[in-house]
Amino acid sequence: MDKTLSPPAIKMPNSYSAATTRTCSLVGVQVIGSGSCVPDNIVTNQQMAEQCPGCDPDWIVQRTGIRERRFVSPGQATSDLSVMAAQRAMANAGVFAKDIDLLIIATFTPDFHCPSAACLVQDRLGIDAPAFDLNAACAGYMYAVSTAGQYVSTGNAKLALVIGADCNSRIVDPKDRGVAPLFGDGAGAVVMAPGTLQQGLRSYQLGSDGGGCLMLGRSAGGTKNPMTSESLANGDHYLRMDGKSVFKWAVRTVTQSIDVVLKSAGMTVDDIPLFILHQANQRILDSVAEKLAIPKERMYCNVQKYGNTSAASIPLALDEALSEGLINRGDTIMLSGFGAGLTWGTSLFAW
Ligand code: UT7
Repeated sequence: MDKTLSPPAIKMPNSYSAATTRTCSLVGVQVIGSGSCVPDNIVTNQQMAEQCPGCDPDWIVQRTGIRERRFVSPGQATSDLSVMAAQRAMANAGVFAKDIDLLIIATFTPDFHCPSAACLVQDRLGIDAPAFDLNAACAGYMYAVSTAGQYVSTGNAKLALVIGADCNSRIVDPKDRGVAPLFGDGAGAVVMAPGTLQQGLRSYQLGSDGGGCLMLGRSAGGTKNPMTSESLANGDHYLRMDGKSVFKWAVRTVTQSIDVVLKSAGMTVDDIPLFILHQANQRILDSVAEKLAIPKERMYCNVQKYGNTSAASIPLALDEALSEGLINRGDTIMLSGFGAGLTWGTSLFAW
């Protein structure tokens, strides 16, 4: 099967599989501080409808729960939001840039194809450390936390700065009513440090399935289909999504993945005070909650304020939940991200 992303529509090949049952464990790490940053510019559903043909503000609320999102201003980019989120996370942790010895940014919207956003942030913050971007789309933060955790747990890094950041407003077609209103811009960051054996990723799984690569992606501007004046005119560089298929896959995969991770840790939904899932659509959160009998008040939601901020959505929600006092030392919370690739990552994180 030709799995090339081919414009204009992205069609599902229907060969993608269910979630893996493999899990891992990575204890002895902790989060010692968090921070986040969203642009000042609030864009309401009404404003979206005014610039997007056929877009109905009520449809957006009813089908997604999203009421507004933030868009960066001209000249602002992923590294700018990342720097601010990182500074807040380091201040919250009580550490300085000179103490950081690993920097990872989960993003699929870096400032440039090359160099990485991480190198720009490393330079701006004056960090002396390896720095790299990691692209696992909306599951990126879950991949980045577990990657940083391996360094910290082995002693190969003492303080890791992990950022999830995306500027989706730069890659959506403003005239595509099925995609443009869903996405927003933002960044979230955490500082990871060595912890006790009771802390860390008690059980987690990461998964990928390129069989679903056509469901969500950008077909032009990479090495397969370099940008041409024709592809630019067609809008092939924009993010396209087979929303219905992604929705069904997400509900099924996240439900299974959470169930597998819980079982592998010998825990049940009742043991988990807070579930922070990738904020893509309120109906996805509601469906997963219903299938797993998760009480509504334990499913964190801020999609109404920010829309889908891709790799930023989990650390942004985590930072808000922490500042709202919803997570206490000793709690074990559930995090789960999912998105393009297809990719997903789910973790029971013992605080
Ligand atoms: O972060 C990565 C993961 N991403 C996701 O998880 C997103 C998953 N997908 C979704 O959240 C939902 O599928 C969407 C929000 C994208 C779409 O919701 P839906 O209930 O699946 O709607 P639909 O795509 O089936 O569209 C229903 C109708 C269509 O019209 P017709 O074909 O029935 O005439 C759409 O063209 O709604 C129409 N529509 C709109 N109408 C007014 C789509 N967007 C809009 C809009 N305003 N903004």
